[in-house]
Amino acid sequence: MGDRPPREPAHRRRRTTTLGDGVRRGLRPGRGPGGEGDPPVTEAGYTSNGKPGKGTSPPPPSSWSSSCHTLQESLLSSASGYSNYRGILNWCVVMLVLSNARLFLENLIKYGILVDPIQVVSLFLKDPYSWPAACLIIVSNVFIIAALHTERRLAVGSISESTGLKLHVFNLAAILVFPVVIVFIVPSLTPVGGVLSLGVYTVLFMKMYSYKDTNRWCREIRQAQVKRLTRSNSCPSVAQSNGRAGQAHVSYPGNLTYRDMYYFVFIPTLCYELNFPRSPRIRKSFLMRRLFEMLFFMQLLVGLIQQWMVPTVQNSMKPFQEMDFSRMVERLLKLAVPNHLIWLFFFYWFFHSSMNFVAELLQFGDREFYRDWWNSETVTYFWSNWNIPVHKWCLRHFYKPMLRKGVNKFMAQTAVFLASAFFHEYLVSIPLRMFRLWAFMGMMAQVPLAWFVGRFLNGNYGNAAVWISLIIGQPVAVLMYVHDYYVIHYGTPA
Ligand SMILES: CC(C)(COP(=O)(O)OP(=O)(O)OC[C@H]1O[C@@H](n2cnc3c(N)ncnc32)[C@H](O)[C@@H]1OP(=O)(O)O)[C@@H](O)C(=O)NCCC(=O)NCCS
Repeated sequence: MGDRPPREPAHRRRRTTTLGDGVRRGLRPGRGPGGEGDPPVTEAGYTSNGKPGKGTSPPPPSSWSSSCHTLQESLLSSASGYSNYRGILNWCVVMLVLSNARLFLENLIKYGILVDPIQVVSLFLKDPYSWPAACLIIVSNVFIIAALHTERRLAVGSISESTGLKLHVFNLAAILVFPVVIVFIVPSLTPVGGVLSLGVYTVLFMKMYSYKDTNRWCREIRQAQVKRLTRSNSCPSVAQSNGRAGQAHVSYPGNLTYRDMYYFVFIPTLCYELNFPRSPRIRKSFLMRRLFEMLFFMQLLVGLIQQWMVPTVQNSMKPFQEMDFSRMVERLLKLAVPNHLIWLFFFYWFFHSSMNFVAELLQFGDREFYRDWWNSETVTYFWSNWNIPVHKWCLRHFYKPMLRKGVNKFMAQTAVFLASAFFHEYLVSIPLRMFRLWAFMGMMAQVPLAWFVGRFLNGNYGNAAVWISLIIGQPVAVLMYVHDYYVIHYGTPA
């Protein structure tokens, strides 16, 4: 495969073309007897979809002879122009299924059935009579209401812009700090409960930040309009002052209601708008399909973690403690497979099934929760396309405002990744009650990685580099945290 014949001088090439004249006439690309509409036929007589070109049909009976050879390339030579590898792709899938089936059987024989739904409950609750994570999430309503009332006061002008900003900053800081304090003073809050509640608070922080910014922009627009009107000494046109009749079109400050605020809190976006695009109706069959997927993938994720991930992680502790490098790499590669599968299922469960379910239920129209990140040829393309709600928020409230202030692009990108690294670390370190900075470093490493891939690799190589960074990078971070957690809590790794 890929062995191109050595280049010949032009006159010899021309001669070669005329050599097999009886057979080769009419095989020039796009000139087959089939006319313009036929797929182009390559030098070796194959169309781009791998079928023999029409020009290769048997020669007329008058020219039949004992000759059975044609000047042609082997299929696997790149010079043949053959490109139909559909069968090979199917072979890859069959091999993948078979090798995973073997791994699955090996796992079952070695460990038996480890899936235990009751154990999942214990990950959330230490004491069945105390539900700290749920209470923490319920308390978050205080911060939502505080943001709404600050905005209401700003809208009527009973507090100044600077006082409003201070109140918002205080509220946002409290959203981040309050759950941290609770995690450290309530021992019954489990690490999984901690991740869940801190995740909710992080989402809330981003939403309230967006709420504050968008309402401020509305006030700025309102002030600009008032100034324009005063200067021209005119009154607004009827169409403008009446809004769009017949449509539930909200304009500032009519949006500052509990209903509007809680609609924003529950819909799957982090960026606030006064008038979100709405889907015309709830499609019941779509909703049921997403619900079924949500339940199915949740079970699958729990099963894979218990049956495959946990034993592999536990078996990896010893080589990590003994710093046995070759065994560490072997364990890492072993963990990479279940970790990656779980991540892919998680992606589908969260970004497709769950977000679409909530959006359909609330008739939220913008369903672009992800783009084709799997085709990423650069690291920046991956980060701009795999988690669209976060990316949109970063662009709208952080990246573009920085660019507008004159910060250069590289510094702005680094600042976004720095903020993202902070939140990744926040979501891991606090619930585990230990600071190791692995997640922070993993996220910050994306900046030089993005530079390297963008500079030296492109096309399929770039795509492969992105996949490798995903497949290998995540289990490294997982093993680091689990190892350190075991060492801190149990002295020696299991
Ligand atoms: C940093 C990040 C925002 C950069 O995104 P990007 O798409 O590569 O950025 P680009 O430089 O291509 O520009 C994006 C936008 O800014 C605009 N822009 C560029 N220069 C500008 C300037 N000087 N002024 C105003 N806007 C500008 C572009 O027109 C483009 O706008 P569009 O989206 O409307 O087309 C992105 O990589 C990111 O979101 N990273 C963090 C992701 C993350 O942490 N996710 C966590 C998931 S768990």
